[in-house]
Amino acid sequence: MTGIDWSKLTFSYTKTNTMLCSRCIGGQWTPVESRTDDNISISAFAGGLHYAIECFEGLKAFRGKDGKVRLFRPEENAKRLQRSAKYLGIDAPSTEMFVEMCKRIVRENIDFIPPYGSHASLYLRPTLIGFNPQLGVQSSKESLFMMLCSPVGAYTGGALEAIDVVIARNYDRAAPNGCGAYKVGGNYAASLYSLNVAHELGYKAVLYLDPATKTTIDEFNSSNFFAIRGNSYITPKSDSILPSITNMSLETVAAYVGMDVERRPVPVEELSTFEEVGECGTAVVITPVHRLADKPFLESEEETIYTYGDGLCGEKSLRLYNMITGIQYGEIEDPFGWTVFVD
Ligand code: PLP
Ligand code: COI
Repeated sequence: MTGIDWSKLTFSYTKTNTMLCSRCIGGQWTPVESRTDDNISISAFAGGLHYAIECFEGLKAFRGKDGKVRLFRPEENAKRLQRSAKYLGIDAPSTEMFVEMCKRIVRENIDFIPPYGSHASLYLRPTLIGFNPQLGVQSSKESLFMMLCSPVGAYTGGALEAIDVVIARNYDRAAPNGCGAYKVGGNYAASLYSLNVAHELGYKAVLYLDPATKTTIDEFNSSNFFAIRGNSYITPKSDSILPSITNMSLETVAAYVGMDVERRPVPVEELSTFEEVGECGTAVVITPVHRLADKPFLESEEETIYTYGDGLCGEKSLRLYNMITGIQYGEIEDPFGWTVFVD
């Protein structure tokens, strides 16, 4: 018994039974260790602490309507972690090792999977860091891979609660030819200043423009951007955004239900033409945007506010949400082969 009130869960840390870890030394992974203590011992000189030699993933385990536990597309997270690790020049676990550790952490923390109907899930946070002591700026020779988990509810407010967001005209999270397309910790550090300013101004998230020209939409600080116009699902194509597994899945679902899918550069001018706008990602699922403010931070001149809907989730976004969460919670059959069951 965990004593958790599932209905009160937010996206925050909860201590669970265990975490898993393995080190890669000379290309060889040590046997996976299960620990009840989250505190790890690490050299103060580890490259992960000094030069942000760190990348991570996020995926969820769901308790289905039939009582079974499902993971959503874990192989895609494994592949993306390998891509991020390659960018950092460090060793990453194989897809097989990654998925096995996802299943094991779920089994060891089975009591922390929120019950079906709570709209909550067990969030898995695979994390890879440069581990060996070093001083020079270079890729770490040893990496530490950790599989962490925590039960979570909605990222902001409640499920499907619309939020207000602001365009970060004066700030970027990524450089034009930088690491925006990789899930490295440094991208999140780079987003914090603008996110804090946005929070002070009362906005829940920041929308970044493409850093090279500032004319097209990139993504939010912790999620991708999508919009609906007519029968089209529209989402940005850009080299400086994270390839979201949720977005990729929504594109497939949208095409499956007969919508047109457009992945292309999205000019800022189009914001006034959209009927629905939302964030999408593992943590945010689909979070509808109600008001989108376009203004230079801290200077209120030339402010434009775009309003979408009446504060509720738009009809087409809701249809996509119901289909994707329906697959995740086993309410509808998965026609795409995305589900990985944990026995
Ligand atoms: N973009 C950013 C910056 C993110 O942090 C995330 C979260 O993982 C996403 C997009 C969504 O990606 P995914 O759907 O794979 O979780
Ligand atoms: C996710 O959606 O899994 C993320 O990693 C976003 C954020 C919590 C960093």
